[in-house]
Amino acid sequence: ATASAVEVGGSTISRDDVVREDDPTNNVPDSVFTKIGMQLHTRDDHPLGILKNTIYEYFDESFPELFKKFDNLAPIVSVKANFDDVLTPPDHVSRSYNDTYYVDANTVLRCHTSAHQAEMLRAGHTHFLVTGDVYRRDAIDATHYPVFHQMEGFRVFTPEEWEAAGSSDGTAYAAQDLKKTLEGLARRLFGEVEMRWVDCYFPFTEPSYELEIFFQGKWLEVLGCGVTEQAILKNNGRDGTVAWAFGLGLERLAMVLFDIPDIRLFWTNDSRFTSQFKSGQLGTKFKAYSKYPPCYKDISFWISEQFTENNLCEVVRGIAGDLAEEVVLIDEFTNPKKGLTSHCYRIAYRSMERSLTDEEINELQSQVREQVQTKLNVTLR
Ligand code: PHE
Repeated sequence: ATASAVEVGGSTISRDDVVREDDPTNNVPDSVFTKIGMQLHTRDDHPLGILKNTIYEYFDESFPELFKKFDNLAPIVSVKANFDDVLTPPDHVSRSYNDTYYVDANTVLRCHTSAHQAEMLRAGHTHFLVTGDVYRRDAIDATHYPVFHQMEGFRVFTPEEWEAAGSSDGTAYAAQDLKKTLEGLARRLFGEVEMRWVDCYFPFTEPSYELEIFFQGKWLEVLGCGVTEQAILKNNGRDGTVAWAFGLGLERLAMVLFDIPDIRLFWTNDSRFTSQFKSGQLGTKFKAYSKYPPCYKDISFWISEQFTENNLCEVVRGIAGDLAEEVVLIDEFTNPKKGLTSHCYRIAYRSMERSLTDEEINELQSQVREQVQTKLNVTLR
């Protein structure tokens, strides 16, 4: 049974306010509601908590008493905070019901910690780190999960600060400080690695960059960042200042630092996982315990106009939960006469904790077949 309410940071979130199957403005499934309030990033002996604590230590040592930390901001935020306040264009894909979990037309499960930038500024904060769970509708595979964790960093500079440093260009000053700060962070986490800055785009920063490091033979994206758009500062009481911001995904970094092969493991209570990590020990290499065999089931159907892979994955996740390891499109063709397109997906079922029986998997697959028809408006082949 699902709990009827959870607490985050002193406020109570009730299930009925978050999950309403018959409400077309709501698309939050129970399987996602149950993740709210878990606060994995606040567990000191969990890989996500160990990583978060290491990053906090880096900031505390580099800038004593400068950055304020927030770990318990509730993940249910307004559309305004999540999108408008950070200048996300009205037609941006991230606003769609296909990509984001909506509680109602004006409220979402935050899809990034940038959702807190404006409120933090309005509350008078100028140097802050916000860590929390974020939610995105997405594919099912080893590196994607509908809930993951991000840390947002934000630093405001006044003209006195860049002038004292002999600079007349606040933006250039902030960009330089940002790069220096994050290069130091990357060295703290990964040691002496090769790094590169890649130009990119975010609606809320200009210029915008991604930091990549050369790690285990590959270029790995570590974070996104940039110099905050003036409008955000102006709209939230900090006209005349310049700021930098960054956002990093904790799972992505923890998976490489601790050798964790599957993102679902972060959520397991299996002591063979949890007992391997100790507070303060960044980078302990995870020793895989015996894996149970996967079971593959294929499903083929004629898609309709509205069909999306994210919706299929939501159906699968709703039925199989963490037993669904991967959903891959393995075949696709169009029948020109009928004007219909067929997709075939292969679903990998596997438990990380026990072996699944044939009966159990057949039952899951038969529910998937049924719900795919009723909920996705497709025709099974
Ligand atoms: N919010 C961005 C994301 O989720 C990351 C980011 C944060 C980029 C702050 C720039 C500045 O991808």
